[in-house]
Amino acid sequence: MVTSLIDAMRSMDVDFGVIAGNPIRVGFRDREGEASELLRAFRFDGVRIIYGPLGCGKSTLLNILGRSINHLRETEPNATIRIGETNVSVEDVFYLYINYEKYSVELTAPYLTTDRRSRVLNALMELIDSIAVGSGIASISGIYDLLNKLVTEFSMDLSNKWVFIIHDEVDKAYATLVNRAGVGNDYGGLEGVVASYAGLFENFRDELYSRSGARHVVVVFSMSDQAAVKVTGKLRGKGLLTQYLLWNLPRESFIDVVNELMTKVPPNTPVDHELLWKLLGGNLRALTALAIVYSWDVSKWLGAEVINGLVNGLIRQLIGHGRAYEDEEQFIHSLRRVSAEPDAVEGIINAGNAAYRSNVLIEISGQSISQLPREPWIGRYVAYQLPAYYWALRSMASRGSINVEPIDVIREIG
Ligand SMILES: Nc1ncnc2c1ncn2[C@@H]1O[C@H](COP(=O)(O)OP(=O)(O)OP(=O)(O)O)[C@@H](O)[C@H]1O
Ligand SMILES: [Mg+2]
Repeated sequence: MVTSLIDAMRSMDVDFGVIAGNPIRVGFRDREGEASELLRAFRFDGVRIIYGPLGCGKSTLLNILGRSINHLRETEPNATIRIGETNVSVEDVFYLYINYEKYSVELTAPYLTTDRRSRVLNALMELIDSIAVGSGIASISGIYDLLNKLVTEFSMDLSNKWVFIIHDEVDKAYATLVNRAGVGNDYGGLEGVVASYAGLFENFRDELYSRSGARHVVVVFSMSDQAAVKVTGKLRGKGLLTQYLLWNLPRESFIDVVNELMTKVPPNTPVDHELLWKLLGGNLRALTALAIVYSWDVSKWLGAEVINGLVNGLIRQLIGHGRAYEDEEQFIHSLRRVSAEPDAVEGIINAGNAAYRSNVLIEISGQSISQLPREPWIGRYVAYQLPAYYWALRSMASRGSINVEPIDVIREIG
């Protein structure tokens, strides 16, 4: 039987942390639809942006895709993957995944000799180092030099290949750099990097292909910081730059992960699956925190991560002299008018993009590679990244105060 990319993905597992020296790993779930949509989105060259809620699984998907292509090649060198309407041999794929936050690289370039492979990896690690020690805009632009470097040093290896370069967590690395440099977080430098790539495809496409010998080149930026998404979204269309939304896991697969995680991190109290779905909405990063940090104690998690996070991270920025609301009463009054409904709440809590910047809301723009569930926390244009924020704001509206307790939020769910 011919193993497909999806089968290869199914055989992978993912890291959920380490408890007392024991690594917690669970099977990689779902994402069949997303993987094929993503490969379909790679059928034309240029720049792609993948965005989605914080911790929804962007890095995992992009990394597993590379690992699965590798696995497929090792088990079945004649295998092909489907990119749009074209079957591409796994031998012809150069898939490079770089994570700028973890400083890790996953290179799927099967035909490289060990020596050349380690040269590529060394060159990449040097590049990432130079970004890590540099400050702000100058060093981030090094990311753009990557393609040039690959073309100059490794053109032989790129010849006739389908080249996919995945830049992951550039937004986070960039935020760290600009904070260090103290120049404010407006993402201008990041916009510059994305624009450079877009311009390369728009103006120098022929040169890129003739110099590299590559058959097809796609550059992907994956990010969750909504402010960064907004900046780079301004370039939409240039060099076929397109944005795609990846969502949290759907209900059924999410429940599967909950059940598997319960066998690895056994809870002391009964776990209410329905409640978890309504609070976490399939977000696995939040599930990890709930299970590992809060030992499945939903109230503790709600109090510390959701209510305190919302009040300290967002609401306090909105209330006060010269801000969006003079006082709490004015804020609650406005909130009550919209009852936390996602499309309408944007006008209430997103002054200065505060709700985007604090990853409470996310804009649904461009195309989606996930099927979004029909739930009250997901609107047409705007959604809550985590449904718990929706219920927390609703309970503030119904209680007439920002001082709500976890039990109020749970009651609000009904
Ligand atoms: N399909 C999946 N099946 C099982 N676990 C998953 C899956 N996708 C992600 N995870 C787990 O969910 C957690 C968050 O995933 P990941 O780091 O990929 O999210 P992200 O969207 O890249 O986050 P960020 O916004 O911070 O960059 C990780 O612990 C990962 O192991
Ligand atoms: Mg990530």
